Amino acid sequence: MANKEKSAEMVSENVEVFRCPICHFPVKVFGLKSLVCPNNHTFDFAKQGYVNMMTRPSSSHYDKKLFEARQKIIMKSNLYTFLHEKISEVIGKYLDASHAPAVILDAGCGEGSHLQRILEECNNDSITAIGLDISKEGIVMAAKNYQSPIWLVGDLANAPLEDQSYQVVLNVLSPANYMEFKRILTSDGLIIKVVPRSNYLKELREALFIDKNKRDYDNDEIVSLFKQHFHLEKYFKLSYVKELSQTELMNLVQMTPLAWKSEKEQIDTFIKQNSVGVTVDLDILVGYKRKKRGGK
Ligand SMILES: C[S@@+](CC[C@H](N)C(=O)[O-])C[C@H]1O[C@@H](n2cnc3c(N)ncnc32)[C@H](O)[C@@H]1O
Ligand SMILES: [Zn+2]
Repeated sequence: MANKEKSAEMVSENVEVFRCPICHFPVKVFGLKSLVCPNNHTFDFAKQGYVNMMTRPSSSHYDKKLFEARQKIIMKSNLYTFLHEKISEVIGKYLDASHAPAVILDAGCGEGSHLQRILEECNNDSITAIGLDISKEGIVMAAKNYQSPIWLVGDLANAPLEDQSYQVVLNVLSPANYMEFKRILTSDGLIIKVVPRSNYLKELREALFIDKNKRDYDNDEIVSLFKQHFHLEKYFKLSYVKELSQTELMNLVQMTPLAWKSEKEQIDTFIKQNSVGVTVDLDILVGYKRKKRGGK
């Protein structure tokens, strides 16, 4: 079966977790070709197996080259292994606490590799995964590379997703829309948000002379906003250094917009090194939509 039909089947098995982004009515899969609402708003499955549910043309700064570099770093280097392991552990514990089966959304999934790695790590058939991103480039790549999640082009500020239908929302290094996250999460739902700390990829920033006058950065504002919407259950600080090879350094430079404003000379000096220890410095915020029973 082609990707398009496979994806349409997966969506039809879980059709209750989607909704029309225009009129907000439930949708149905029609002829394994489209998602259609009662007002005939129609969203076609693309041949790669994703659905575009944008209501307006979207523009993103992220291009194909950037997403390809991200995919290589996430899948082939071990730069984010600890992150994937930690998130999978959090999800595993949540599922064990009688929350399975679960529908998991990766909001702002980019080209989908983090979601794919986390699912591999979870290795749990009771998970249905959905990746949503406003960038068509990212979602096309995700759909071509990874078959088990459902991939949607969509805006997380007007998510084409049904109320109270998601057990877990992941939000990795991407913008958030907490009103939407609260709307789609079940009452026991969990949010896992990953935010950079001040030393995140600091070797790259230093080499490209970015943030020279940077003050010590803290996450107080992000944490405080998060706490206005969710009950912060856990707060993990993930800080480590991984050695990257020359090829990996090239991908590292291309996977963020940091290099866009840099001189070629600075980039060349950085990628000519045989290997460099690169710092990953992230916070993982884990919150519940409502206080856990027995929680403070
Ligand atoms: C830094 S990238 C992170 C992507 C992915 N989570 C990763 O870590 O590789 C931020 C992502 O947020 C997406 N994004 C930005 N605004 C969005 C919106 N309103 N709705 C959905 N996705 C959005 C971008 O297209 C981009 O893929
Ligand atoms: Zn509609």
